[in-house]
Amino acid sequence: MSKTLITGGAGYIGSHTAKTLAVRGRDVVILDNLSYGHRDFLKWGEFEEGDLADTAFLKDVFSRHDIEEVVHFAAFIAVGESVAEPRMYYENNVRNTLNLLGAMQDADVERIVFSSTAAVYGEPQTATLAEDHPLAPLSPYAWSKRMVEQVIRDYGEAYGLKSAILRYFNAAGADPAAEVGERHQPETHLIPLILHTALGIRESIKIFGTDYDTPDGTCLRDYIHVTDLSVAHALALEHLANGGESDIFNLGNGNGFSVREVIDMAREVTGGNIPVETTERRAGDSPALVSSSEKARNILGWQPQHADVRDIIETAWKWHQKDCR
Ligand code: UFG
Repeated sequence: MSKTLITGGAGYIGSHTAKTLAVRGRDVVILDNLSYGHRDFLKWGEFEEGDLADTAFLKDVFSRHDIEEVVHFAAFIAVGESVAEPRMYYENNVRNTLNLLGAMQDADVERIVFSSTAAVYGEPQTATLAEDHPLAPLSPYAWSKRMVEQVIRDYGEAYGLKSAILRYFNAAGADPAAEVGERHQPETHLIPLILHTALGIRESIKIFGTDYDTPDGTCLRDYIHVTDLSVAHALALEHLANGGESDIFNLGNGNGFSVREVIDMAREVTGGNIPVETTERRAGDSPALVSSSEKARNILGWQPQHADVRDIIETAWKWHQKDCR
């Protein structure tokens, strides 16, 4: 059977997607350099350890496996770091993606699902963001994703590359069976940091800004369960395999939760005392990022199963209790 290549498949969203595809009967090959990925997240499929910068390695991987489609996650993701080190971001996220696309073309692999981000929209001009909202990336990280989106679209026009570009809102939660979950080094994301505080690994959670123009003054985000995200990748692959049009899809639940609401829910779920410290705004944060994901629902038939933020935090809590033991 022909296989699905997952770059960055040892990372957070990549490993959940590897599980989802394997459960749905796909043969997967994971390509990861383990710079941020985790060897213990490699539970499904075959593993190719190497770097997208290495074109000979890529050629070899495509020659040894019968790959018919690619899901491309491998990228650096820290917004703040990208501002300080844009070269790292453009080389890894853009140049190395060109290597991947070149190797795909040389091997006649015509379908790709690309991991993009709501960060390509920049400052929201409407309460919810649909795919046709203007694009205004605010960081080299967001620009790197935006640039790759364009390259993929251009390759589609010129070479027939079929693509689904998926713009995630805030990926959160963990595999309900806790086989994999969220583990970043260093951790910067809100929910893991709150749960580390509940576990006593950190003393407090800092709230970055309490003077936003939002109901309680803290930022609103659209948290989307990582398993629901992973299913959207499977559906996007099926859409392309069935001859569906190349397209761009937002992935979120369409509900904004404030930082304080997330902390309160985590207190309920964990029963723990979660001390809070309020601090200045973090540079580059939007007051609110909430999706309209109607297109993914209508075209891909995507239906999030863990849309409740309690469910998101409960699955993350189960994972963190296991992972941080
Ligand atoms: N926050 C805090 N304290 C913390 C960490 C975060 O108050 O210690 C706040 C942030 O200010 C933000 C919210 O919690 O309002 C969520 O922050 P995260 O860092 O968890 O997530 P972001 O919304 O900043 O980032 C996510 C993805 C990025 C992506 C971005 C925009 O992780 O990759 O959404 O799409 F670029």
